Parts: sequence; structure tokens; C-alpha cells
Amino acid sequence: MMEVLRTIDGMRRWNRQSTGTIGLVPTMGALHEGHLSLVRASVKKADRTVVSVFVNPLQFGANEDLSAYPRTFEQDLALLKAAGADAVFYPSVEEMYPRGESLTRVSVGTMGQVLCGRTRPIHFEGVATVVIKLLNIVAPDYAFFGEKDWQQLAVIRRMVDDLNVPVTVVGVPTVRETSGLALSSRNQYLSSEERGLAANLSRALRLGLSRYEAGERSRDAIRDAIRRELQEHGLEPEYVELVDPDTLDTAPQVLDRPAVAALAVRIGRARLIDNLMLGQN
Ligand code: PAF
Repeated sequence: MMEVLRTIDGMRRWNRQSTGTIGLVPTMGALHEGHLSLVRASVKKADRTVVSVFVNPLQFGANEDLSAYPRTFEQDLALLKAAGADAVFYPSVEEMYPRGESLTRVSVGTMGQVLCGRTRPIHFEGVATVVIKLLNIVAPDYAFFGEKDWQQLAVIRRMVDDLNVPVTVVGVPTVRETSGLALSSRNQYLSSEERGLAANLSRALRLGLSRYEAGERSRDAIRDAIRRELQEHGLEPEYVELVDPDTLDTAPQVLDRPAVAALAVRIGRARLIDNLMLGQN
């Protein structure tokens, strides 16, 4: 039976009573196949799987979509039951932040300021803070995150390393529609015409990958090819960058090791991100 736990005490009690290893899949709900692939990865690896559903106010900027963020809890529960989750941690904002916004926050340094951090300056601090809280509450052996949010994954790996958190972080490959569009809860904001346009994000990244696979090693040449491909479809990217997969530092001009090509594009109400690994990490 899948249990729904709304309090931190209840979650900890469940944890104490459960046997074997625990996998945690942190989510903000509005679940789709991408989330379910994380749940399945956890069910396969750990004895018990806990999924947290919490729209974390701390990671939204003042002008972002906190109030509009899709909330579909009943539907999420049915999907989680079918995917084999054992428990759902579903706290209120007051339960997670009883004194109002957390005074103590995890600073993630420059890793939180590059790429998406340039336009979302408080986002990764908010993510790292809620994730360390979730890890402290659930105390899992494994925690699963999608590679679609590469920057988030890299930031969390680094936090876990820097703070000696006793958990193994597992990255799970991006799930895509047949058009190539990476699954995201924010795809719900797209009209059908915008959805067609959004398929150009992965198309542009694949073009970059094909240049790389054909032997191109100039960082700027690959970056510019990706950017041009987007622009040819009327999309002006917020950024296109090639970065080191672990540190997120700008990749060297001559690509002598694997790099992640990452981009963000605003289409209508949706700000979409995607990335692709160039080379074997
Ligand atoms: O990726 C997300 O859905 C969120 O950033 C996370 C990791 C659940 C933290 O709120």
C-alpha cells in the first residue's frame, strides 16, 4: 500500500519502520513520464521508494510562475501508485518552512550563477536548500534527479560532496517526446503551435552533436551552429553554452574532453531548457 505522509514526523516514523534501502525522488508534482522514469529507476535500485511532491517557493523568483505552477496531486497519486512508489511525502509550505522563509540557505557559489542562474539568481540556492532538507527528512540511500536539469544535477552532486551527505545521487536520462521535445511540467504552458516550435531545441542540440561527431572541436563553432539553428526557426535563445559536465565552467575553446551543450529558450509563457552531452562523460 502506498502511504501519503504530510508531516515531517510522519515521514520520519515511516522511515524508521521501513526495512532495506530507500530511494528518494524529489519532485514538484505535475508528474509526467520523465518523473516516472525516475520513480522506476528508484524502484529498481532501492528496496523502498519515497516520492516528495512539494512546490518549493524558495526556488521561484518574484516574477516567476510559483502561483501558476501546475498542481495535479490526485492525478500524481494515481501515477505514483501505478509506478510502484511506496510513500509520498506531501508537506505544506508551513510544514517545510514553519518560521516563514528559511533563514539558513545553502549557497552554491558560481555553479548557481552560470547558465540559468544568470536570469534566475536565487533559483539554485532555493533548490539546494530544499533538497538538503528533504535529504535530512527522508534520509535516503539514493536520490534520483533527471539529466534534463543538468545544472541542478551538477549543483546537487557538488553539494552532497561538499557537505558529506551520506546519499548516492543518481542521474537519469532525459525522456523525450517523439518530436525530441524533452518532457517538462512547463510544456503544459505551450499551445500546439508553440509545441511544434519547441521541438527545435533538441533539433538544434542534435545538430551540435552531429558536428561534434563529425570531428568539429571548436567550442564556438558548435555553439554558434546551435544558436543559428534556433534563430532560423525564429527562436532567440536566452543562452547557448558548452560547459564542463561537473563544474559547469565554460568548456575550453578546443574541446579536448566531454562537454555539455546547454540552452534555454522562452517560447510564449514557457521558459524551456534542454541539454546534450558531447562525448562520453
Ligand atoms: O526538479 C525539481 O522538480 C525541483 O527543482 C526539485 C529537485 C524537486 C526541488 O524542488
